[in-house]
Amino acid sequence: MLKTGVLASGRGSNFQAIIDAIENKNLKASIEILITDNPSAFAIERAKRHNIKYIFINPKEFATKDEFFKKIADELKTCGVELVMLAGFMRIVRKPLIDAFPNKIMNIHPALLPAFPGLHGQKQAIDYGVKISGCTVHFVDEGMDTGPVIIQAAVPVLPDDTEDTLSERILSFEHRIYPEAVRLFSEGRLEIKGRKVVIKDHPPVSSNIVNPPIDETDA
Ligand code: GRF
Repeated sequence: MLKTGVLASGRGSNFQAIIDAIENKNLKASIEILITDNPSAFAIERAKRHNIKYIFINPKEFATKDEFFKKIADELKTCGVELVMLAGFMRIVRKPLIDAFPNKIMNIHPALLPAFPGLHGQKQAIDYGVKISGCTVHFVDEGMDTGPVIIQAAVPVLPDDTEDTLSERILSFEHRIYPEAVRLFSEGRLEIKGRKVVIKDHPPVSSNIVNPPIDETDA
């Protein structure tokens, strides 16, 4: 069974979606540890409720960012983690962690990358005036939201949308595609070829909302 670790800085609703997928048996994986850089992250509460080990690592205790990320990598390795999931982790991951988990770190971003990377992807979409936005699960490299794309879901941007209403619409799809991406990884079905992630044996695309479509038969 795939051993995972989660890095989160805040609310942790994507962390919760992964927990739920595991508990509902839609995902054969375990969460070995939650690591947070924020002692008041609600994600900690979720870890407690589900008996998941958690630790707070204080970035201020490290002389450099690289040392902070080395510590995170060491903790994950100690727990035997095979896949790292960033779930609202508000820092750009540095080389010591990336090198420790090559092509084994995922992130979820609330926009259709490469559009609107960085903070406030939903507000950027509204301000730009796009009619469709969405969310992206991608592998993490040293850039900001630049790694190979695994799955995306598209949602409409409505004329009256505020940052909050669009965020909520996108979030409900984040909670679907993140566990799905992890499931594909756990089944050994993600192959990285340069910038592209090839999904092995995936049903053909049949929907313009979720691309590729979620395999509801397993739900
Ligand atoms: C999500 O919108 C995610 O896309 C972004 O940060 C937010 C985290 O939300 N990376 P949550 O903490 O998972 O609820």
